[in-house]
Amino acid sequence: EKGGWPSFMKKEISEEPEAVAKTLLGRSHDGAVTLPELDSLHDVLGEINRVVVIACGTAAYAGMLGKYAIEAWARIPVDVELSHEFRYRDPVLDGRTLVVSVSQSGETMDTLMAVKYAAQHGARTLSICNTQGSTIPRESDAVLYTHAGPEVAVASTKAFVAQVTALYLLGLHLAQRRGTLDGAHVAAQLTELQNLPDKLDQVVESASSRIAELAHWMSDTQSVLFLGRHVGYPVALEGALKLKELAYIHAEGFAAGELKHGPIALIEPGQIVFVIVPSPRDPSSLHPKVVSNIQEIRARGARVIAIAEIGDVAVVPFADEVIRIPFAAPLFEPLLAVVPLHIFGMELAMAKGLDVDQPRNLAKSVTVE
Ligand code: M6R
Repeated sequence: EKGGWPSFMKKEISEEPEAVAKTLLGRSHDGAVTLPELDSLHDVLGEINRVVVIACGTAAYAGMLGKYAIEAWARIPVDVELSHEFRYRDPVLDGRTLVVSVSQSGETMDTLMAVKYAAQHGARTLSICNTQGSTIPRESDAVLYTHAGPEVAVASTKAFVAQVTALYLLGLHLAQRRGTLDGAHVAAQLTELQNLPDKLDQVVESASSRIAELAHWMSDTQSVLFLGRHVGYPVALEGALKLKELAYIHAEGFAAGELKHGPIALIEPGQIVFVIVPSPRDPSSLHPKVVSNIQEIRARGARVIAIAEIGDVAVVPFADEVIRIPFAAPLFEPLLAVVPLHIFGMELAMAKGLDVDQPRNLAKSVTVE
């Protein structure tokens, strides 16, 4: 039930902090990850030499973030593939491949068929899913449930942050199992995860009204671009998907480094571009590179809305608007940066008088191929 909220989507965005907290709950002890639901894969997880994440839509963007974390922590190569592409291209699979499906509903036919295909071709399968007892977990060797609670709005929001959280827990579990991170490092990453719900609360609280204003003056906009690098790139893709499905606006997400390979030709005076700016604090940060990308598009007339860390003053002279998020270590920034984009998609749809819970032509779970 909506419980007094104007839409399920607004309610579900407000539940993003809780979705992360509940997905973490009971899954660590004394600074170590504890996932008994993966016990049946214990031997397999020591032997795999590859992970393939399969998913569709928003769940695939969560998968892309999972790739960064699993590769960084567990040093296992990870491919992320759309389920419907994976299934029909004769992929290379064997008993040392772990296929991780990500699905909120657990009923997405494309993903279900891909899981069955992977199992038939000798891979081991793990489902990351938000719906207890649904079909994909039943067809998989093991399941790691996200605990976002029921998601009703067609556009996925709280399930996304819960999926990223579960993938990060999997990354830490693999790192523990394979000895690629020591105990102190695992504990430090867990602390970062555990700090997220409070930071997410801050973002929902602080960003909502300014974004509603921005969405209002943009209600006639025909096209919006989103740029990010590294973990900011999947966030850019997610921001663009939300705008397409909710506000029926042409939107594209790009890896910022790709600009000069083509997309910069799209920039003309007045083009709105959201840029996900990494924290400047980390010495290896891509912050300077993203700021120079902003300068490139600004010089061509783009109107830049930056999503940047509180205290990042370097970005101010180059952006028309800065939406602030609290500091988090680089791998955790996307969980915070995505929230303003979820809010923006919803607010722009509302400003256009559209139904945010039930966008046209879409179903909550896509149970046909
Ligand atoms: O239920 P699933 O997570 O398998 O659904 C996958 C996609 O259909 C879903 O994420 C879709 O892209 C959303 N409408 C995005 O907001």
